[in-house]
Order: sequence, then C-alpha cells, then structure tokens
Amino acid sequence: MHEHDDDDDVGVNPSTGTPLAALIEARLSRRDLLKGAMAGLFTLGGCASLPGTARPPLAFAEVPRSLDETHHLPPGYSGRVLVRWGDPLRAGGPAFRPGAQTADEQEAQFGMDNDFIAYMPLPRGSRSSTSGLLCVNHERNSPQLAWPGITVDNAFDRMTREQCEAEMASQGHTIVEIRRTAAGWSIVPDSRYTRRVTARSARIRVSGPAAGHERMRTKADPAGTTIIGTLNNCAGGTTPWGTVLTAEENLQNYFLGDAGKGGREAAAWKRYGITGRPRYAWGRHFERFNLDREPNEPNRFGWIVEIDPYDPSSMPVKRTALGRCKHECATSAVSHDGRVAIYSGDDERMEYVYKFVTRRAYDARGGAANRDLLDDGTLYVARFDANGRMRWLPLVFGEGPLTAANGFASQADVVIEARRAADLLGATPMDRPEDVEAHPVTGRVYVVLTYNERRKPDERNPANPRGPNRHGHIVEIVPPLVDGRPDHTATECEWGFFLLGGNPKDAAHGAQYAGPVSDTGWLAAPDNVAFDPSGRIWIATDGQDDIAGFADALYAAEVDGPARGVTRCFLTGPRGSENCGPAFTPDGRTLFLAIQHPGEEKDSTYDKPSTRWPDFASGMPPRPAVLAITRDDGGEIGG
Ligand code: FEO
Ligand code: CA
Ligand code: CA
Ligand code: CA
Repeated sequence: MHEHDDDDDVGVNPSTGTPLAALIEARLSRRDLLKGAMAGLFTLGGCASLPGTARPPLAFAEVPRSLDETHHLPPGYSGRVLVRWGDPLRAGGPAFRPGAQTADEQEAQFGMDNDFIAYMPLPRGSRSSTSGLLCVNHERNSPQLAWPGITVDNAFDRMTREQCEAEMASQGHTIVEIRRTAAGWSIVPDSRYTRRVTARSARIRVSGPAAGHERMRTKADPAGTTIIGTLNNCAGGTTPWGTVLTAEENLQNYFLGDAGKGGREAAAWKRYGITGRPRYAWGRHFERFNLDREPNEPNRFGWIVEIDPYDPSSMPVKRTALGRCKHECATSAVSHDGRVAIYSGDDERMEYVYKFVTRRAYDARGGAANRDLLDDGTLYVARFDANGRMRWLPLVFGEGPLTAANGFASQADVVIEARRAADLLGATPMDRPEDVEAHPVTGRVYVVLTYNERRKPDERNPANPRGPNRHGHIVEIVPPLVDGRPDHTATECEWGFFLLGGNPKDAAHGAQYAGPVSDTGWLAAPDNVAFDPSGRIWIATDGQDDIAGFADALYAAEVDGPARGVTRCFLTGPRGSENCGPAFTPDGRTLFLAIQHPGEEKDSTYDKPSTRWPDFASGMPPRPAVLAITRDDGGEIGG
C-alpha cells in the first residue's frame, strides 16, 4: 500500500547504523558497481548461462507518464480483467453487492486489495501456460471505498461489527483455477481447487520453534498450535515443491488496547510498532484483537504461511522457523547442493533483510520429504559492509548475544522477537525492504528498498547511501558459485547496487542507473519484482504518485549486457493504485498483474471515488483486480 500512510511504517528501530559517509562516497563513485563489473560479476560462471545473449532487446514502446482513471499499456498489448474484488468464485456463488456485502458473501468471493500472485501450472509439476492455479494475496482494505458514509477519518469509530467481519473475510488468500482458451483467460467456476484462506475463518497450524510456546497461547487456543486466520498478506513466493508462501506484513494495524500495560510483552510490542491504536476497528468488536484481553495474539501474526494449493484439504502452516517481522515476501532459491534459501524483507524504515536456509536438501521427486523442510534450518539477517562484502548473521539461540542474559530463553523467543535478535547481531538498517528475490539463473539476489525519506544524513550506511532516500534503490547480492552454481547457503557474499531510483537528470535526486534511462523510464518507490522466462527483471512501484506526481507503474530492464538496469515503463496504473505481484506463465506469453487499491487518494470515497476502475459503472466503486496481459500477436511479453 502507500506507505506514506502514517499508520503503516512507524519506524521503531532504535538502531540507526554507523555513519560512514566517506566510505559511501567511495563506493558510489565506482560506477562499475552499477555496470555489473563488481567483483568480476560477469566473469562468474553462473552468469555465462544467462539466456540474455540470445534474446531480443525489450521492444515495446514506452508508456508515457499518466495520472488518470485507467491503466495504460504499450500498443499491441491487451490487459483484461481476470478477476475482481467481490467476484463470486464458484458457479452460483453470491454476486457482489456494492456497499452491502456480508462476511459470508465475501468468503465466497475474491478478496479486496490483491497483492502477490503465483501462477501454479496444472497439473502439479507441469509447465502448462494455459491451465493453472492463480494464487493471490489480499493484503488490506480501504473501508472508505467499500462502504457508504465511511471516510479515512471516521472509519475506526463507525465501522460496524458486520463490516469488520467482512473485512476479515476479505484479507488472506484466494486460490482459483484458470484456463486459457481462444477467448482468453477465465476462471474455472466448478474447480475442486477453489479456496479462500481468510483472516476470519482459516484454521492454520503452527510449526517450528514457536509452536506451542507459552507466548503463542490464547484463550481460544490454549495449546498455542492452531491460529484462526492470516492477515495483511502482502507479497510472497513459491517453493520448488509446489507450495505457496504468503507473508504477513503490517501486523500493528490490528491490535487495540493499552500497549503501555503489556507486562512482559510491552517491550516486544514497541519494537513491532504495536501501539494499541490500530488502523482497523476489529479490536472494537472482536476480543482476540484486544491487547488487554489477549496479550499474546500479536505473537501469532507476522509469520510466513505455507499453503499447498494443489491439495484443497491441506491445512496451511505458519512456519515460525522463518522468524517474525513485517514480512514483505518469502522467495525461494535452490542452492548448489539442493538446500533451499527463503529470502524475506522486513518492510519498515531501518529494518532488515533475512534469509532462512533449510538443513536438508529438498527432494525433487516431491512427496512427503518436503512437507516440513521449512521447520528445520537456520535463520540469518544481513549485514552489508563497505568493502563490497556482506555477511549473513545466524539468529540462533545460545550463539553470540542471543542468550538468557539478553532475555532469550529459547529459539522460540529468538523467532518471536527476530527484530531484537537482529539488532543485537548488528544487522544493517535498510530503507524499507520490500521484495527480495533471487534471479533464477545467475542466483544474484535483488533487494528492493522502496524509500526512506526519514533517514538522516548521519544515518547513512554503505548499502543505504542516501539520507533522506526519497526514491528508493535496489541492492544486488552476489552469492559465491560452487561448481558454477550459486551457493545460497553461503554466509559471506559480494554486493553492489543495481540502481538508485529517481530522475538522473535532477542532481538533487542522486539517482544512478548503469545506462541512459529515458524521461519516462526512471522510477521511484520500487516494490515488487519478478523475472520473466528470458531473465529480465520487472519492477512494480508503490508511491510514485506521492513522490513524483504520476501514477505507479511497471518497468522492465535487463539484468546484464549494455541495457543492464535501464528501466523502461511498460504499464501505468489507474490513479490511486499500486501494481503488485507481477507473475508470468512459463512461456512468457501472459503476465498477471494485481492492481491494488485503485482510487485510494485523498478525499476519494465510496460515494465519490476518484476512479471507478475497472467497471466504470454508476454506483460501482473502484475494485482491485487481477489483469491478464497478453500481446495481440501472441508473442512473449516485452518482445
Ligand atoms: Fe505491503 Fe511492503 O508492501
Ligand atoms: Ca509498498
Ligand atoms: Ca509491497
Ligand atoms: Ca516478487
């Protein structure tokens, strides 16, 4: 969402890093970092196989800046609405009733504010680009665009129990089966895979170090092993064994109460920005979201949840070994030896980048061997050094400062308070980590830092060189190679910059790109990234409207060669929206894109929205939706 919202990123990390201005300048002045020559980047074996040498250059005509009621694509491309907020997911399901939706109806419909998208081919393990499961996160709600008479200012006081319950039924995740025919993509209405996993009703098992711990127990769940619901599901990822990982992000938006009276949990609440003054009114109507009644409930959110979309009867699992924070995402990378790394950013100003490495290799034949792989491994946090090296520091109970002397009695405490553990290890405070994703061929890891306008000049560090950072940047981690394959288990890697956002023609921005970026191609506020089958990076933004005065957009760039890092604008969204979760079919001929919170702007309400995208029908509010984008000539997206 637009993180300029005050209720979102409250910036609660007391550590601000070491001032290292001279080292930063020295590092930034090495333009070869941006060109990819850093540490022999392109002499490394893994990069030689990047399919870029054979692929054509990006061929689409760049889309001009816009700020209007609809989305825009290059000539020769079409973007059709595949599914919208409120669409019934089954044949005969309840139709969307604007402004009057019930929670039961919402449970059977597509949720609001779609974010991450995974396209999972059918059957499992295939590479079908015409039949698959669309797995979509629903991060949040804009009540002022959902209900008559509700505004941003009055929502907390006016939202009824029934309206809050509909919000709870909206957040979480949707799985639908989709098919491509000559008429285009559509939902299979009678599919056995159709499923919602919501904040209101989903039963979710807890696994890993925090399962059953006393800090996870509540009146409704005295064992601390089963949680109703997942919420604020922002970005995510998929695993090589065919499951989806969904990330619980801004958990502080839900808990009402007197956070000053929290007993032993009060300090932990503070470190997670839980003030007792939430964005959502759920705590007024539901005891479990009231800190005074259920002080452990916040400990049950902020996790990575694993869902098997191919097995509709499977219970989702909160994998606590991956740590608790405001997880933006959870993306997997298979290492040289078959072990799997899961990368994640903690999206808040001055927070950290994490990875989890499984202890065992995954079994490519699938089956039960992979079922609990994410319960057993090591969680790390990133420290970036000025010499171009970075370290992954282990968050392991009993090692270094993570002992009883600092209030950690077990690994459960370490994962529940991952932020405080990372503070003690000296992790590098970043400019709001959003997506963190490894390139499928080179293994280079792209760390997207969206922006941090509150970083002061003396709080800069080598990996976050601008203070304030108004435009965001992307850091590139280069794991070592073993037998030509990336070692995602490594605890020491190289790093450099992929780009520093902003307008390179405006010296005040301090922007840097490796090549000449056009007046419509420079970007601000990068958020989600994805790689197409040719290995190019696609970058979606969230906040350009506030920062630069034009709509959020989707950009494409090469990751190597002469056009490395030269972003080109492919799509601009309807006003008020961010675009999320870009996902490609294996053949690269369809791009799914989530348009989130269209019309969410100042003074834009249900009664008088700034756009009615995508229906443009009288009385119909703007509706978050997933677009299926194809080329009219059937070719690969991007050319
Ligand atoms: Fe939900 Fe960090 O964006
Ligand atoms: Ca964002
Ligand atoms: Ca995001
Ligand atoms: Ca991504």
